[in-house]
Amino acid sequence: MSNQLDKIRELIELRTKARLGGGEKAIDKQHSQGKHTARERIMMLVDEGSFEELDMFVQHRCVNFGMREKTFLGDGVVTGYGTVAGRLVYIFAQDFTVVGGSLSETMAGKICKVIDLAMQMGAPVVGLNDSGGARIQEGINALAGYAEIFQRNILASGMIPQISTILGPCAGGAVYSPALTDFIIMDRGTSYMFLTGPKVVKTVTGEDVTQEQLGGADVHASRSGVSHFVVESCEEGIVLIRKLLSFLPQNNLEEPPIVPNDDPIDRLDEVLNEIIPDSPNKPYDMYEVIGSIVDKGEFLEVHADYACNIIIGFARFNGRSVGIVANQPKTLAGVLDINASRKAARFVRFCDAFNIPIVTLVDVPGFLPGTGQEYGGVIIHGAKLLYAYGEATVPKVTVTLRKSYGGAHIVMSCKQLRGDMNYAWPSAEIAVMGSAGAVEILYAKEAKDSDNPEKVLTEKKDEYTKVFANPYNAAKYGYIDDVIEPRNTRFRIIRALQQLSTKKQTNPAKKHDNLPL
Ligand code: HXC
Repeated sequence: MSNQLDKIRELIELRTKARLGGGEKAIDKQHSQGKHTARERIMMLVDEGSFEELDMFVQHRCVNFGMREKTFLGDGVVTGYGTVAGRLVYIFAQDFTVVGGSLSETMAGKICKVIDLAMQMGAPVVGLNDSGGARIQEGINALAGYAEIFQRNILASGMIPQISTILGPCAGGAVYSPALTDFIIMDRGTSYMFLTGPKVVKTVTGEDVTQEQLGGADVHASRSGVSHFVVESCEEGIVLIRKLLSFLPQNNLEEPPIVPNDDPIDRLDEVLNEIIPDSPNKPYDMYEVIGSIVDKGEFLEVHADYACNIIIGFARFNGRSVGIVANQPKTLAGVLDINASRKAARFVRFCDAFNIPIVTLVDVPGFLPGTGQEYGGVIIHGAKLLYAYGEATVPKVTVTLRKSYGGAHIVMSCKQLRGDMNYAWPSAEIAVMGSAGAVEILYAKEAKDSDNPEKVLTEKKDEYTKVFANPYNAAKYGYIDDVIEPRNTRFRIIRALQQLSTKKQTNPAKKHDNLPL
């Protein structure tokens, strides 16, 4: 046997060893918990045969607390690049079979390398997280490693899409890397995220809480809003990542991919002509409107279980990606509040950063009043959404379906916040406030002094409704570009987006803005 062949055999053996990560026993343990290994997860994500692994021979340099004897080829993370639907994607997958996926200095170096490459090449980064946090034996070097990753997440933000999928533990400051990325997907039952675990919580606050209650997928999807998506399995998470990527451009200098569309652009939907109930206080389901107007009714909702009074997500019009923001009359009458404002603001900013046009469907009675909201800072949080729309330079098409009152009217992509095409249905009511509130303020004294206050208020309400509860008053000033037939909404939006596809608009040069945080 030649020397050269021996060397090749050695390489193959080393690769085989590296692919075993923490060894067969640890892999069996991972499988017995219903979890996949890092490499299995990557293989599910990428197009077959496309993955190129990097840094397979990297090893940690720690010698403390028995680590000198515990070395693993590649250490606790698998990194590299591959394609998803033919498009380049950089990937890192933490390997729980190696010291619990805990982050060493060298692991951080591997992760930083793929983020750096992704930024240079202008391609998304997908992180598959499953880790016990900072490798305790490495002390400050592990923390420094995290900081290096965070710094890159920050620099990559708004430049390339970053997606974090949590498929196991994610604790301590480690949660901040996912938090700095664009989307967090959590696997129900196997993943959790928290800054301090149940034991520390018990010691400090006396609270008894399980991992699931503290930072499980449902908690973060519906209460904290930390997670954007919940999936039932790793497989479902992988399908979701692929779908999400299909709506996104590779980077901030590219347009999202256009997919072939066989849904007629002039498809009318008669149902829309009758969807608005006669009573202004009766709800209808905004999902029906979205499903009716977008290509084939396909809508990838983001934050589906959080702040349900506003709906956000991705869809396509004639094959082109858009971000949809829509008030939901079925939840809290579609009112804007702190959580809805934050949710939508971040989404609008994401779309703007990545050249994804925004379609806004408006039916909003105003901002939620009360001390809870005011003490919680609704002024600042509401301003986030206002700010996000005002700074966005992507094409913005707004359709007002019914109510559009007061500050909420302005916030929801009105004409003066550089709304490009602002349409309204004949049922639109665009005014400072609803008739009942307005008449109470303007005619309370007159009603009180009259013999029949009820009659005065009803008459004035009718008068107010006649003047303001329509789209024509706003259209008279050009604040609404056209009043459209509901059944024709899909076609009108597509035409507007076609027209706006060459839109160029820039904001004044500055170091960065000062978004109200
Ligand atoms: C070193 C770790 C580790 C860690 C797990 N391991 N976490 N080693 N540093 N952070 C090791 C275990 O010792 C074990 O090694 C192997 O990984 C598998 O872990 P198990 O405990 O057997 O697994 P399991 O029962 O599934 O429990 C998983 C776990 C638990 C819940 C994640 O390991 C755990 O609580 N780990 C510590 C979590 C934590 O407090 N992290 C925060 C660190 S501070 P052997 O050799 O027995 O197989 C931090 C700050 C970051 O992260 C700040 C960034 C700014």
